[in-house]
Amino acid sequence: MSLPVRSLGGLTVPAVGYGSMVLIGTYDTPADEAGANTALAAAVDAGCTLLDTSDVYGPSELQIGAFLRGRRRDEVQISTKFGLKPFPGEPVHRLPVRWSVDDFRINAEPRLVRAYCERSLTRLGVDHVDLYQPHFTDPEVPIEETAGAVADLVAAGLVRHVALSNPTADDLRRAQTVTPVAAVQVQWSMWHPIDPALLARCEETDVGVVAYSPIGRGFLAGGLTATGGHDFRANVQRLTGDNLTANNAAYAPIVALADEWGLTPAQLALAWLLDQTPSVVPIPGSRDPGRIRQNAAAAEVTLSLTDRERLGSLLAAFVPVGDVS
Ligand SMILES: NC(=O)c1ccc[n+]([C@@H]2O[C@H](COP(=O)([O-])OP(=O)(O)OC[C@H]3O[C@@H](n4cnc5c(N)ncnc54)[C@H](OP(=O)(O)O)[C@@H]3O)[C@@H](O)[C@H]2O)c1
Repeated sequence: MSLPVRSLGGLTVPAVGYGSMVLIGTYDTPADEAGANTALAAAVDAGCTLLDTSDVYGPSELQIGAFLRGRRRDEVQISTKFGLKPFPGEPVHRLPVRWSVDDFRINAEPRLVRAYCERSLTRLGVDHVDLYQPHFTDPEVPIEETAGAVADLVAAGLVRHVALSNPTADDLRRAQTVTPVAAVQVQWSMWHPIDPALLARCEETDVGVVAYSPIGRGFLAGGLTATGGHDFRANVQRLTGDNLTANNAAYAPIVALADEWGLTPAQLALAWLLDQTPSVVPIPGSRDPGRIRQNAAAAEVTLSLTDRERLGSLLAAFVPVGDVS
């Protein structure tokens, strides 16, 4: 099946992609190779052929590599990331439940970038990736140098397009002084706004926006209950205890509106995002083939002006409690 397409700075991708972090056991179930393969097949069959991963997502690159064996490379577009290292050296899926970005160190030195990429290509079993990006901007390294090192990989044929993950508008502007940038990847959803300055820079300079956590790590699908065990969401203020209860109550009118419109709340969250700008591509993650198909179908939803206004007024009244990062 094919979905409507969008352009990420010249790279054509489906309007809804697929985020593979959910496959590695950071949510409430351990990594499972057969389950990963089933989920990836469901995503690609539903048309979500943009597969997002990272060298820090535990086995995800290997899972995608195993899935791609025997398939045509041009069936998918692969986006991966580098430079985020679990501290003190544990794979991300083994970290204790209570972790934060301070448990990671960032190293995006240019001298390391080619080796990072070659290792990702080996795990993925491919000769190039479509988007390659530092997972976060390294505070110790000028972004021009990191982006320039990725541009060298484009020249070498290992990467098709330079991207940036979690950049500021200024990072993007500075990177663009050394290379075209096709896309940025940032958290953006109904309950996590994008920095308006970054969005403006993207729209002015034809840079696509890959929106991560577009379903609010499951919350915007409605009805999220307590998280625990090895689910990293037990560490997210907005998704725990009294905050979660209050946020579910505040979100209820939007769940009801989705129901009235014959959509799932997750579909409404994705349709809202797709309606924000033609350059956005959300990458929801799910291990469930039925939900993956549901999420893909959001690419076909169109909001009228009246729909937009009605949803907009509910969203203006939806003020979640607690930090989400
Ligand atoms: N660049 C970065 O720093 C960064 C950071 C975070 C994430 N990302 C990328 O963004 C991708 C997605 O982000 P995310 O995993 O943080 O959050 P997300 O996609 O907003 O949420 C994933 C969660 O939502 C649930 N879900 C998905 N579709 C659903 C549906 N239709 N109904 C009910 N529940 C549904 C999934 O559960 P089930 O599996 O049970 O369906 C999972 O628990 C990641 O895989 C990764 O590729 C990038």
